[in-house]
Amino acid sequence: MNNTMIKITTGIVTMLLMAGIFVLFVARDEPNRLPAKEADFAARSVENGAMIFEANCVGCHGVQGKGIPGVAPALNTPEFFTTRLQEVGYGGSQRTFIESTVNAGRPVGSGQYSGVMATWGQQYGGPLRPDQVSDVASFILNWEATAVGGEGQAAQPTPTQLPSDASPVELGQALFTSKGCAGCHGEPGGVGLVGPSITGIATRAGSTVPGQSAEDYIHESIVNPNAYLVPECPNGPCAANLMPQTFGQLLSPAELDGLVQYLMTLE
Ligand code: HEC
Ligand code: HEC
Repeated sequence: MNNTMIKITTGIVTMLLMAGIFVLFVARDEPNRLPAKEADFAARSVENGAMIFEANCVGCHGVQGKGIPGVAPALNTPEFFTTRLQEVGYGGSQRTFIESTVNAGRPVGSGQYSGVMATWGQQYGGPLRPDQVSDVASFILNWEATAVGGEGQAAQPTPTQLPSDASPVELGQALFTSKGCAGCHGEPGGVGLVGPSITGIATRAGSTVPGQSAEDYIHESIVNPNAYLVPECPNGPCAANLMPQTFGQLLSPAELDGLVQYLMTLE
């Protein structure tokens, strides 16, 4: 066959395939289409939940919910999906257990963790809408299959791809979202959610702790948050240990530098 014939043949085969797919699609009746729509909706809920988890929960519960020792428990474990509800004597479903914990928080923790499971649901004064709480629960529930050793691939949040020549400020800006900072501090220009608003941090950082430059103060606030406690948080006085204490170990020096440089642009 010469080139033209190959092209013509490929063209005809493609058209036949497309026609076939079209016929199949149209031939599907409504009762069949509905579950497909529901599956699509469920997939989107998991995807949204992955983003919410990245922005709000990884700082304490760790990447992919694997937990951070001493800060917050792992959620992506066989025990969480098999024995946890019995252990706490909860009679409802796994989904309502997750949603109610996220909504209301755990103001009185077990004392094993330095993090405080804040109130996330809007009806309790937190930042997340009911549909967002439901989405983040869907994301956590999607770990069950792999956690208990069954079939299936848990969804992964798409990592933000930065160009290799990204500047430190660009790196810091991406980290501010992907490491969960924005989940507590809000977006620049906006209000704080669990922690103080990040708006104008560069302007006030130099005059917060006497003798500490703006850069040094911001760096210290990230690696050693309890060294100086900001007086006012959105839900009252800022509590010690509310900001995860582990960023100094989790972040590389270049990442820390990027965050500091990025926050120094928020005047
Ligand atoms: C500041 C740290 C922190 C953040 C941020 C945080 N959590 Fe928690 N979370 C905790 C701690 C600590 C506990 C355990 C409290 C206890 O019982 O001692 C917990 C408990 C939970 C539990 C119950 C686990 C169990 O086995 O009982 C769920 C579910 C949960 N968190 C989901 C989330 C979700 C979803 C988010 C994000 C919207 C989130 N958490 C953000 C610290 C945090
Ligand atoms: C679970 C919520 C939470 C997360 C996640 C979090 N913080 Fe915080 N952050 C706080 C709270 C609460 C305070 C105030 C208490 C204190 O000073 O430690 C604070 C204080 C700060 C301050 C001092 C703010 C000021 O106005 O002086 C900076 C800077 C800061 N955080 C940066 C970050 C960065 C960067 C990240 C991500 C790498 C981050 N935080 C993640 C809760 C959080």
